[in-house]
Amino acid sequence: MTCPCDWPEPVVRVQSLSESGTPIIPDRYIKPPTDRPSLNSSPPDLNIPLIDLSGLNSPEASLRHATLNQISAACREWGFFQVVNHGLRPELVDGAREIWREFFHESMEVKQKYANSPKTYEGYGSRLGLQKGAILDWSDYYFLHYLPSSLKDHNKWPEKPTSLREVVEEYSKEIVRLGRDLLEAFSVNLGLRGDFLQNKFGGEDVGACLRVNFYPKCPQPDLTLGLSPHSDPGGMTFLLPDENVCGLQVRRDEQWIMVKPARHAIIVNIGDQLQVLSNAIYKSVEHRVIVNENKERVSLAYFYNPKSDLLIQPASELITPETPALYPAMTFDEYRLFIRTRGPQGKSQVESLKSPK
Ligand code: OGA
Ligand code: NI
Repeated sequence: MTCPCDWPEPVVRVQSLSESGTPIIPDRYIKPPTDRPSLNSSPPDLNIPLIDLSGLNSPEASLRHATLNQISAACREWGFFQVVNHGLRPELVDGAREIWREFFHESMEVKQKYANSPKTYEGYGSRLGLQKGAILDWSDYYFLHYLPSSLKDHNKWPEKPTSLREVVEEYSKEIVRLGRDLLEAFSVNLGLRGDFLQNKFGGEDVGACLRVNFYPKCPQPDLTLGLSPHSDPGGMTFLLPDENVCGLQVRRDEQWIMVKPARHAIIVNIGDQLQVLSNAIYKSVEHRVIVNENKERVSLAYFYNPKSDLLIQPASELITPETPALYPAMTFDEYRLFIRTRGPQGKSQVESLKSPK
């Protein structure tokens, strides 16, 4: 495939549109009526499971088992859960979110120095996908690599605010540790060796990259979305939500469930690569983001991924005559190129790879 080297149209910063004070959003952010936020919204008391991870390190075997069982049920039934007592200090969690909020409130001149291109997506961006004339989402973002270290380039991380690089380093290290711990729990829950999934992800050579999402205030939040329905293409995602502003919705059957974040919690979701490796025992679930008229929202989505040139396919240990392999082998590099060219397109992403029966 040829290299997608530039954006198909001039880039507009959603934050600039928002700050212009216009009461009307441009047509290209207006979703067709069936995709707008009001439809099928969730019963207010329903939420994704909340799991206390301190149980994983308990000296009591019964508590460890109970925690593993909660994780297992959440992976099978929801593909989404939030964790507390995850080992990241509350100050680090708040600090990481707030330093990025400060970045987005730097001047446009400071941010534009990092304007990204679709070649690697690194830096300051305002769209996903390359389809000319596509209807766009109401958000800007910043994307950077942490692992493999050959891709980590501090020059592509913001220089301001001054402590940002240091905070992102510490936050990233902790997320990678959490990723390893959860992959071990998933492996055990699937009846595999504790190090099975980590090895399939490349052992020490996993990938880890961060997308910070900035959803500016929107004068007509009922007409648009902050992020269109999609499943995450990678291994798993650790999402640090904005504590004061809801926005993330998870699809469950035909409904969109609004996630109510617990204090200092991190939201975990299964990505497409874990759906493939587990042969769909774990589901990579569709989700989307809605925006607000009076409140901006900041979230940090950390993608924990397999080494990008390894073949990912359903684990042979999970294949039986009754449960044949559902997906062909593909590297994450190949898969990502396919996704990035198309932009967020709902659940079709991994389903369209299914082997013909
Ligand atoms: C993502 C994502 C949700 C959010 O970045 O992939 O789903 O709440 N973000 O920002
Ligand atoms: Ni996502």
